[in-house]
Amino acid sequence: MTEEAGYGKVGVLRRENAELTHVEFGTPMGELLRRYWQPVALSEELTDMPRAIRILGEDLVVFRDGNGRVGVLDQHCAHRGTSLEYGRIEPEGIRCCYHGWLYDVEGRCLQQPGEPPDGTSKDRVRQSWYPTREFGGLVFAYMGPIDLMPEFPAYDILSDEGLILTAYRNISRGAVAECNWLQIQENAMDPVHTAFLHSTISGAHFTDLFKALPQLDFEETPTGMTYIRTSTLPNGFTYRRVQEVFVPNARSVADPYLPGNKAQSEKSRLIGWWVPVDNTHTIGFHIEALRVVNGAPVPSVLAQAPEGRSSGTQAARRSYEDMQREPDDQEAQVSQRPIAVHDLEHLASTDRGVVMFRRLLKEAVAAVQKGDDPMGIVRDPGNRTVTVSAGNTLIAR
Ligand code: FES
Ligand SMILES: [Fe+2]
Repeated sequence: MTEEAGYGKVGVLRRENAELTHVEFGTPMGELLRRYWQPVALSEELTDMPRAIRILGEDLVVFRDGNGRVGVLDQHCAHRGTSLEYGRIEPEGIRCCYHGWLYDVEGRCLQQPGEPPDGTSKDRVRQSWYPTREFGGLVFAYMGPIDLMPEFPAYDILSDEGLILTAYRNISRGAVAECNWLQIQENAMDPVHTAFLHSTISGAHFTDLFKALPQLDFEETPTGMTYIRTSTLPNGFTYRRVQEVFVPNARSVADPYLPGNKAQSEKSRLIGWWVPVDNTHTIGFHIEALRVVNGAPVPSVLAQAPEGRSSGTQAARRSYEDMQREPDDQEAQVSQRPIAVHDLEHLASTDRGVVMFRRLLKEAVAAVQKGDDPMGIVRDPGNRTVTVSAGNTLIAR
């Protein structure tokens, strides 16, 4: 039904596109997201205390046991449900505070100290658990069917010898962005917003290079898609910027702080993930290969961005008036509603990257439902390389 009720209002109740936005266990997108390794914490956040996390609508606890192994377990103890965030970390695992049951990082119940010493109850208990990996300073979990666990992808831009990797939370949409993951991820295939939100509306957030309205191309890749944004600068240089998304929720963004007066070509040095906390909350993680100058890593500007700011070069400001006067990605995307309603949109020619990305997601969902691997799943342990094409090129006149 598409009839209008008058005054431009649509006369039927429009709901969000649940197939692409909802993330719980058993939902189409929830099952797709669970086929990929997802970052859930920073390695440096695992101290002598467990950490409660919520990922894909599941309440979990992440911890590093006394032997250095990382575990991601269901938050609620299999005994009677006490949260393991109050547990004690020990060499062999985590001990629930309530009756002292001890679990290892794979959820095996090692001890039930209140039970008779010869009891077998512990052998019948398994705390829900997920496999984990650490890479580049992030802790990843695989939350899908265990027999379909993929290899861990080796992004080429993060894999070369001698790189110094740094990991951090991307808080440009707030430490926990109060909206659905998809509208944030779609932003990566929306290059036109850089010419408005980040240039003419709110001043130059990153670089003056974004001011020139670009010509846009979009291309599929084996793991997702890219946009190719080409513009001619006032100085006559051609600026070509390639940005890339990996189905479903990762992306690669080239340096946004490029000066526009020197011919150059550089690959992106960053992989980022928008991880759904639940349907209406999202957290961001980045791994960045730092530039090395005179033998020392140059600190990441993006890593230092204040909460709610895309750009690390501007001061934090959070008053409502400031947000109205100089909106940034957080204001633009979170205000699309807690879950953007696709039925209410009026997509135009510049949205074709968003349209294409949604199609790729639908195809990936369909592949999972058919029993196939969705795009970008790495199966060959001998060839885990994912080639990243994101980058910047400045060509002199
Ligand atoms: S509730 Fe965890 S040991 Fe009893
Ligand atoms: Fe942006």
